[in-house]
Amino acid sequence: MSCTIGAPLSEAGGVTITGFDLSTPLSPNRLEQIRDAFRVHHVVVFPEQVLSREQQFAFIANFGEVERHGARNAQPKRYAAAHVISNLDKDGNPVDRSTSPVSNYRWHTDKGYYRMPPMLTALYAVELPPRGGDTEFANTAMGYAALPEATKRRIEGLRVVFYWGAGARQPGTSPRSPAEAREHPPVDHPLVRTHPETGRKALYLGNHASHILGMPEAEGRALLDKLLEHTTQPQFVYTHRWRIGDLVMWDNRCLLHRAVANYDMGRHRRVLHRSVVRGTVPY
Ligand code: OGA
Ligand code: MN
Repeated sequence: MSCTIGAPLSEAGGVTITGFDLSTPLSPNRLEQIRDAFRVHHVVVFPEQVLSREQQFAFIANFGEVERHGARNAQPKRYAAAHVISNLDKDGNPVDRSTSPVSNYRWHTDKGYYRMPPMLTALYAVELPPRGGDTEFANTAMGYAALPEATKRRIEGLRVVFYWGAGARQPGTSPRSPAEAREHPPVDHPLVRTHPETGRKALYLGNHASHILGMPEAEGRALLDKLLEHTTQPQFVYTHRWRIGDLVMWDNRCLLHRAVANYDMGRHRRVLHRSVVRGTVPY
């Protein structure tokens, strides 16, 4: 089978690769092509795939160690690697959770609140609403590059404190309880991180980012808000409009992403299978 790497999907990233059947083992050459496309385009789309969760796991494992999903998610063990994300409640009925402060509907990078956040996340579209239910990706390397030099100098060397749920907390509200702080200890990462493969600098922030280390909290938050607003401008964003069978993988080291609440979530089902590949400590 011959494969085709399409034209870039947007200025901000994204490319489609057709002609690969991801359910079968791929040659080292093909994998290298995919890795190259991932490095250059950050979001790689493989349309029209038919994948069991085990096949998805096997494909994604080509890119690194696939993370087991957290214990919170009560799904059978053998599916721990490709877990379900959906808008369904435990009885299988669609519900609208888009306003939750920890939801995927806010700009975020996956698990930025870990010391070693994942480098890659993949989603495979199983059930979709008739229209909408998009995912947006914002290129934080482009965002960084477009900052005024004075801002680049100002933010150089700053570190961002992340912890799970930080996005929900307003400055000046009561501090977290010791139990909360134990369960979700803060970690700090460079606000400007260097991509380990491309060497490009990118902003690292988003939901779950709390404040800047060593800066008054409100001031740090205001800076993070401003940078977030900057790097999520339309010229830095690729919007993925899903089709059933799309396997999309993206680079968490230079992108923010969010689900878009542009469908009737209380009515239509949206189900995707997700895998996450372990990353390294950001520097
Ligand atoms: C994720 C995520 C967005 C979406 O799986 O990490 O943020 O569109 N998903 O479902
Ligand atoms: Mn996510």
